[in-house]
Amino acid sequence: MLFSPEPKERREDLFDRDEELRSFQRFLEVGGPICLILGLRRTGKSSLLKVGLRLSNLPHVVLDLRVLEEKARVSYGDFIRVLNEAFNKLLSERKALAKHLIDFLKVVDGVEVSGLRVYFKWGKRERLSLASFFERVNDFAESCGFKVVLAFDEAQELAMLRGVRFDALLAYAYDNLRNLKIVLTGSKVGLLYKFLKIEDPSSPLFGRALWKIELSYFNEELSKAFLKTGLAQASIAYSEDEVEEVVKAFNGVPGWLSSYGYSRLQGIPHRDALKAEKEKASLLLAHELNNFLKLRPAAKDRYVEIIRALALGAKKWSEIKGYAEAKLGEAIPPKNFTELLNKLVDSGFVVKEDGGYRLADPLLAEAAKKIKL
Ligand SMILES: Nc1ncnc2c1ncn2[C@@H]1O[C@H](COP(=O)(O)OP(=O)(O)OP(=O)(O)O)[C@@H](O)[C@H]1O
Ligand SMILES: [Mg+2]
Repeated sequence: MLFSPEPKERREDLFDRDEELRSFQRFLEVGGPICLILGLRRTGKSSLLKVGLRLSNLPHVVLDLRVLEEKARVSYGDFIRVLNEAFNKLLSERKALAKHLIDFLKVVDGVEVSGLRVYFKWGKRERLSLASFFERVNDFAESCGFKVVLAFDEAQELAMLRGVRFDALLAYAYDNLRNLKIVLTGSKVGLLYKFLKIEDPSSPLFGRALWKIELSYFNEELSKAFLKTGLAQASIAYSEDEVEEVVKAFNGVPGWLSSYGYSRLQGIPHRDALKAEKEKASLLLAHELNNFLKLRPAAKDRYVEIIRALALGAKKWSEIKGYAEAKLGEAIPPKNFTELLNKLVDSGFVVKEDGGYRLADPLLAEAAKKIKL
């Protein structure tokens, strides 16, 4: 079903994305050690990852790091729990390999085995060493003659993880662990780049070739085709006007289009579905924006006024600044103002284009109205 609400896993449920999927499959077959899947929120990164992995049939561990989103601090335990859960999922899904894989892991410090499950320790006295974990999974893959994929979904959320040099670990894996394939997805592309320090010459990952796949929103034509195909698949009657209205409201964001479709599957008429899904989308965006603002309380009202300026159509740096200053009744030093804008860009709320700025998702305009100052 094209309109099911969870990230897709099967090719037939994923609309279009032929080129991106082909690229991901090529990476899994012949690519180097690390792949980045980049795109704003709700573009279908997790879906592309899952569909591609399933088609490849390679054993894979997928860490859903979204659960760590916007935490001011991520402890080693927080991360290890996510890794542990993802790893046990692999063990339960690939029973034929589980025993062999456990044999490789049980010698690693901080690993306890119980039946066909493992427990990773993260306490002060005894903790899993990530480097040893990577090495043993690599050795396991080598012994089997295939690659194992470690996927970090929303990898930038690890930026708040204390005590682990993740960039150094990735560089080590890149150079030495030939049987691992590492996939990093990110909806906050700027933050992901900063976290990996890819552009920093003093960083361990600098200069490494990374396989990159970028997912964008659907254009108007694809949005229409997506809706029509999904509605027809569920035998739901629609008019051209309705489809146009939905496309206009959701601006090509695959996740919102899919949510609207899911409402229609439940028998909700067009007008009610559109209204309810728009409201839900802006509430979710307001929640995400609030999470971002919670970590930056001192500049909260500045951020909100910047978003409101963009919502009103301001595009140029000076226009946005002028609006925000008028609303706040104070001057913002130019350097600070640029930093604020860049933070919003790095976090995927704002897009920089043609020398100006715009909201990444136009529904953020509605979301910004819901933020209390
Ligand atoms: N090409 C597509 N075909 C069908 N459904 C899609 C497609 N792309 C996205 N979706 C749907 O949109 C929603 C968001 O997709 P997904 O979770 O894969 O995106 P994402 O980029 O990982 O989002 P997030 O940034 O929130 O993690 C899901 O309900 C998914 O099923
Ligand atoms: Mg995702």
